[in-house]
Amino acid sequence: MLRIVALSLTILLAHTAAAKTVLVTGSNRGLGLEFVTQYAAKGWHVIATSRSPDDDEDLQALAAANTNITIEQLDVADLEEVAALAAKYQGTPIDVLMNNAGLFGDRPRQTWGKLDRDLFRQVMDVNVFGPLKLSEAFASHVAASETKKIAVISSTAGSISSIRNPPGAPYYAISKAAVNMAMRGTAMRLKEQGIAVAIFMPGAVDTRMLREAVGLTQEEAEAATDYDYRRFQPLTTEESISQMIATLDALTLDRSGDFLNYDGSTIPW
Ligand SMILES: NC(=O)c1ccc[n+]([C@@H]2O[C@H](COP(=O)([O-])OP(=O)(O)OC[C@H]3O[C@@H](n4cnc5c(N)ncnc54)[C@H](OP(=O)(O)O)[C@@H]3O)[C@@H](O)[C@H]2O)c1
Repeated sequence: MLRIVALSLTILLAHTAAAKTVLVTGSNRGLGLEFVTQYAAKGWHVIATSRSPDDDEDLQALAAANTNITIEQLDVADLEEVAALAAKYQGTPIDVLMNNAGLFGDRPRQTWGKLDRDLFRQVMDVNVFGPLKLSEAFASHVAASETKKIAVISSTAGSISSIRNPPGAPYYAISKAAVNMAMRGTAMRLKEQGIAVAIFMPGAVDTRMLREAVGLTQEEAEAATDYDYRRFQPLTTEESISQMIATLDALTLDRSGDFLNYDGSTIPW
């Protein structure tokens, strides 16, 4: 009898220890939805955040089929929502904070000669201040976890040493260069708490954003089924995310704050 109780306790403890938690931003489509899919399949508890949960049919369907997915409302540019979510999960260890949400921004409004300050602020708010503020708000949750990792999905568009021509979407490029510095500094700040930070290039991946990057408007990108993006030789979301998760799993503190390709190779700043 005692042996059975001891065995049950061991299984219970092993199960508890294995149940890790990830919080994903922008999880209703594209890379974010695939992060949710793959972490849920690994048995993690997934806090899948989105700014419009009621409209997110794909995410709702995924959560209906997986009890380990919890959907939460979060606009990463809304300070009150960020603070409220951090307070709601106070005391819950979060193993991985995945800062995925991003905004490309309308091209015409970031075209030389028509530079629009409101759009600049919006892109910087979502792509730079969002991940920075979320990292600050959730640092204690991550520090309390076993895994202790924060990631941001950046882009080679923000690689200053790689630029050869003026970027087609300058606000997006500027925001990715800025978030690289924001998260490099965050990595240094959080190292003594044992938190490792990954700054990722996910590859060119077939999502609505890539379609915007090749010149389609948001509306065209949403509707497009056949378009010429082949010059990018895009990865599928499955290929990109499985490799990023493996790279993040292997990340150690000595590489914290590095700018990493999805496969773990280094991207030049
Ligand atoms: N796909 C690529 O080739 C590529 C390459 C380099 C980097 N990236 C980066 O990868 C990340 C994911 O992009 P994706 O390719 O999956 O593009 P996507 O399909 O356009 O998805 C962008 C996601 O960000 C969300 N989002 C935008 N503004 C938000 C806000 N204020 N609060 C919360 N969520 C917000 C969107 O939600 P809504 O549906 O509500 O708009 C959507 O879920 C981005 O950071 C992007 O810059 C992508």
